[in-house]
Amino acid sequence: MKILGKFPSTRLRRVRNSEWMRKLISENHLSTNDLILPIFVREGKNKIEKIKSMPGINRYTVDKLGLIIKKAKKLKIPMIAIFPNTPKNKKNSEGSEALSENNLVCRSLRFIKKRFPKIGVMCDVALDPYTTHGHDGIIRKGRIDNDETIKTLVKQSLLQAKFGCDVIAPSDMMDGRIGAIRKALDKNNFQNVCILSYSAKYASNFYGPFRDAVGSKNNLKSDKKTYQMDYKNSNEALREIGLDIKEGADIVMIKPGMPYLDIIKNIKDKFKIPVFAYQVSGEYSLLKNGIKMNLIKDEAIMESLVAFKRAGASAIITYFALEIAKKLKTF
Ligand code: PBG
Repeated sequence: MKILGKFPSTRLRRVRNSEWMRKLISENHLSTNDLILPIFVREGKNKIEKIKSMPGINRYTVDKLGLIIKKAKKLKIPMIAIFPNTPKNKKNSEGSEALSENNLVCRSLRFIKKRFPKIGVMCDVALDPYTTHGHDGIIRKGRIDNDETIKTLVKQSLLQAKFGCDVIAPSDMMDGRIGAIRKALDKNNFQNVCILSYSAKYASNFYGPFRDAVGSKNNLKSDKKTYQMDYKNSNEALREIGLDIKEGADIVMIKPGMPYLDIIKNIKDKFKIPVFAYQVSGEYSLLKNGIKMNLIKDEAIMESLVAFKRAGASAIITYFALEIAKKLKTF
């Protein structure tokens, strides 16, 4: 780009001098329309339980979900994401609880869809909340078996669609699962159910608090590097996304968020499709604790979220959704 102008006739500070001018020239904005609120669900009745590693975030029993969803509705947050904390005794090596009509996600869907028909609901498709080993897939001969796992993921997707899930979000990183899920959804009359693919999901150290929140942390004895992406790679994300679009993904997700803004920008520029970002649990807890300890100001939250917009994200899954929506106005 050719730089126009020259000091002293050009002074960029001239348009920074007052707040009203800064408002007029601002290039990117965050609105409540951009926010997706993740919600953790737990077994039992009448309980709201704090999550130690995520200050300010709770696990809700299904009967208590109304409390938090009412807040999201009032603040005009368009969509929520449901994550289950499955009790230990319902986990096994195959993750078969994922296919139970009475698992936490299905019960939540029935509860929410009856009472809040207008809020969008997305559900993860992956087996890690249900497996004793904490992996997203099924293990055969010591390895995560791609094609065997897909069979279960397809069933899990159909079950969630049956109970009203609007957006199926495979977060497992198996090859070919988007095509298989799309085909099965279409065959079963779920043509209008969206697929939001966690297309570029990195094997990240920033998921720690989430694994604690869903109770898979202690189960997982190794890493997820044979299916989630290597953080050294960028071109590989283009291939992942290209394939997922071909297979029928409506929206793609980049995850984690802040350390991967370059990936968001690259994907948006190259593919021109809706890109969502996931500001993950580790990012949340680091910011939250930094603010609590007075190391940074709480405007850092807004800064982190606007950065996603600047990079090209359409929407952001963030544990700050409620907190930040209170500060924003919709338009
Ligand atoms: C599970 C899943 C994970 C997250 C969302 N879905 C964790 C993982 O892959 O281990 C992480 C979200 C967060 O850290 O906030 N497939």
